[in-house]
Amino acid sequence: MEIAPSIIAGDFSRLREEIRSIEESGIRILHLDVMDGHFVPNFTFGILIVESIRRMTSLELDTHLMMTNPSEYLEKFYEAGADILTVHIETGLEAFRSIEIAGRLGKRIGLAINPPVHPRVLLPHLEDIHQVIVMTVNPGFAGQKMIEDALYKVEFLLNEREKRGLNFRISVDGGVKREHLPMLRDMGVDVAVMGSGFFKLPPEGRRTLLEFL
Ligand code: DX5
Ligand code: ZN
Repeated sequence: MEIAPSIIAGDFSRLREEIRSIEESGIRILHLDVMDGHFVPNFTFGILIVESIRRMTSLELDTHLMMTNPSEYLEKFYEAGADILTVHIETGLEAFRSIEIAGRLGKRIGLAINPPVHPRVLLPHLEDIHQVIVMTVNPGFAGQKMIEDALYKVEFLLNEREKRGLNFRISVDGGVKREHLPMLRDMGVDVAVMGSGFFKLPPEGRRTLLEFL
């Protein structure tokens, strides 16, 4: 299992140092939460910051688009350096359009699903995507408590992936703390996104996460 620190829980006034400390802990993926203040009641950053972070690091930029109209900006986020873009299935047509655009561009695309939504809605798209982000908080803010009821979706998706011989990555995002990691790893989660659970740890505490990499 891999850990993907969610940078919005970090100290943006020390962004470069935060990214260096992530790189030094052997972590490979950086989770970028883009919020448009419309799909979620919060606003974070956009293309300019993704471009700046791209220039700072070679970590995989796992970019989570919490936006109402992601398809309109997809190409610009890829050009900015996002390695994989994940859009929300709750945006409906926008999500379908995004999958089609990513396919045409030959880029990696994922679908994120909010806690109340049943994963059956993902079934028609699983062949065309590279990742599912199972949200274990209602999106918009770091520092929330994990909604463990949403974790049944991991087994649902693992079974579907196995049955159909697919290889999309399963990521869990929201409220993940160090004490959840053994459970998530044993469940078969591929990526655990950690915001406050990572950045609140002192450097030596972050190093203990290595056993989960
Ligand atoms: C929530 C974001 C998550 C969040 C993770 O809308 O998608 O990535 O920042 O932070 P924690 O781990 O603190 O919930
Ligand atoms: Zn996220």
